[in-house]
Amino acid sequence: MTHFTGKVAVVTGAASGIGRALAVELGRRGAKVAICDVDTDGLAETQRLVAATGADVKSDRLDVAEREQVLVYADAVKEHFGRVNLVFNNAGIAFTGNVDEMGFKDIERIMDVDFWGVVNGTKAFLPALIESGDGHVVNISSVFGLFAMPTQSAYNAAKFAVRGFTESLRQEMLLSDHRVKVTCVHPGGIKTNIARNAGAAESRDQKELAHSFDKLARTSPEKAAKIILRGVERGKARVLVGMDAVMFDKIIRITGPGYQRLFARVGHRSGL
Ligand code: NAI
Repeated sequence: MTHFTGKVAVVTGAASGIGRALAVELGRRGAKVAICDVDTDGLAETQRLVAATGADVKSDRLDVAEREQVLVYADAVKEHFGRVNLVFNNAGIAFTGNVDEMGFKDIERIMDVDFWGVVNGTKAFLPALIESGDGHVVNISSVFGLFAMPTQSAYNAAKFAVRGFTESLRQEMLLSDHRVKVTCVHPGGIKTNIARNAGAAESRDQKELAHSFDKLARTSPEKAAKIILRGVERGKARVLVGMDAVMFDKIIRITGPGYQRLFARVGHRSGL
């Protein structure tokens, strides 16, 4: 028996990276897993990997930015498994560009997926999580939800917003009679496809950016999934994923707003 045995867990953005690793690890630990993503090929591979653990798996194409679709999906998962215990709002995209280089549409797309996707998933599943009597909302922010970096204003805005939304929800659940735990996750650099799939302003060399990211990302998605699930088991408010995340968190506490100048210089030198 594990903490997750027999529980129903939903993972968005499960076709790749952290989402796939979470889905497989949840399957290994005895959960029934609902996976969704816009990438149906990647999703089919995740479905195969989760099924190979012996877990019950439901797989669906879902764009988390499409609110109506998310609401219908939440009902379908509840109907299929009879209940929902955990939702991992993980789907996300990245974009690199200075504020004066980005179009409004670029910023809106990041907010639609990275912020509204999390809000849609949280609100759609919250009634079922409350009803389960043993619910858990796990929202994936980023270390970029703890500190800002040049060229990341849209992503920073979305990830800071996820953090505020999630921390407030946690406080509300603590004050209520609902047995729903809430965890905000802040990964550091994880070796996934995020930078390769990312958008960038025209003046930026996307391949070069992805190359720089690959050199800096230290933690495997499998290790990230284990760290996240340990935090979930312990009902943690905040989970930092990777030594880099722990170190960044310490530096910003010590330096206060002084980190901005420091990180701007270091980030620029690292080619980010
Ligand atoms: P990834 O690119 O490997 O996986 C993200 C998945 O989300 C992909 O399968 C993609 O198809 C899916 N997705 C994108 N837009 C979607 C939409 N509208 N609806 C449904 N699915 C959608 O990236 P990774 O790294 O696994 O990212 C997972 C989460 O972790 C994201 O929220 C990301 O912002 C966050 N994160 C990642 C870090 C990293 O270093 N890789 C660091 C900090 C946070």
